[in-house]
Amino acid sequence: MENKIIITIDGWSSCGKSTLAKQLAKQLGYVYIDSGAMYRAITLYFLRNHIDWTDDIQTKSALENITLIFKYNEKSEQSEIFLNEENVEYLIRDLVVAEKVSEVATISLVRNFAVAQQQRMGEDKGIVMDGRDIGTTVFPHAALKFFMNADILVRVERRFKEMFDKNPNITIEEVKSNLEMRDYIDSNREVSPLRKAEDAIELDNTRLTIQEQLDIALKLAKEKISN
Ligand code: DC
Repeated sequence: MENKIIITIDGWSSCGKSTLAKQLAKQLGYVYIDSGAMYRAITLYFLRNHIDWTDDIQTKSALENITLIFKYNEKSEQSEIFLNEENVEYLIRDLVVAEKVSEVATISLVRNFAVAQQQRMGEDKGIVMDGRDIGTTVFPHAALKFFMNADILVRVERRFKEMFDKNPNITIEEVKSNLEMRDYIDSNREVSPLRKAEDAIELDNTRLTIQEQLDIALKLAKEKISN
């Protein structure tokens, strides 16, 4: 039987992690999990229910009422996240959520809740997961780890194009300041800050096409799988 592995993809906001993770999973017949979607869905729940996430008691009881499930959508060929049975894949990409998600993701109770579920999803291996702490905290023994980066202006442009389709009122400045703020909070928080795992392979895609980056990652994955 083929040797299944865990592949982790961490890195800065909007540097193409999910694009690479989705393609890798598809090519290898693996499951793709967007761990950021979990933090975003939790944030959406907190905002809707006016939860003060700095208060442990409120946070703990709110988390008890949250069920997160990923379901594969045959049409879009994507797995989509469901918050208490509601498909929120689209809603969680909103700037309102993006503005608060990094703050929510600093809370230990929230991280413990998300990490425990992520680790369960990886029990059978054959998974590609992207995020900020996947190679360092969630799967420190993963067989293949990537740490992605790209020039900030390239990242802003990519995210702007993505968000503009949904919200034509958004400005480049708003997108840039949101990315910079998230990078800062994600890499400076106390619990599991964004760091490159020592054994992660750095992939800067500022000057790579999507196909070139996939070719590099796929070659490395196939080598690991056949070892
Ligand atoms: O990947 P993303 O932009 O959808 O992630 C949204 C936020 O969630 C990001 O700013 C930080 C947080 N996050 C995290 O702390 N740990 C992860 N493994 C994934 C995301």
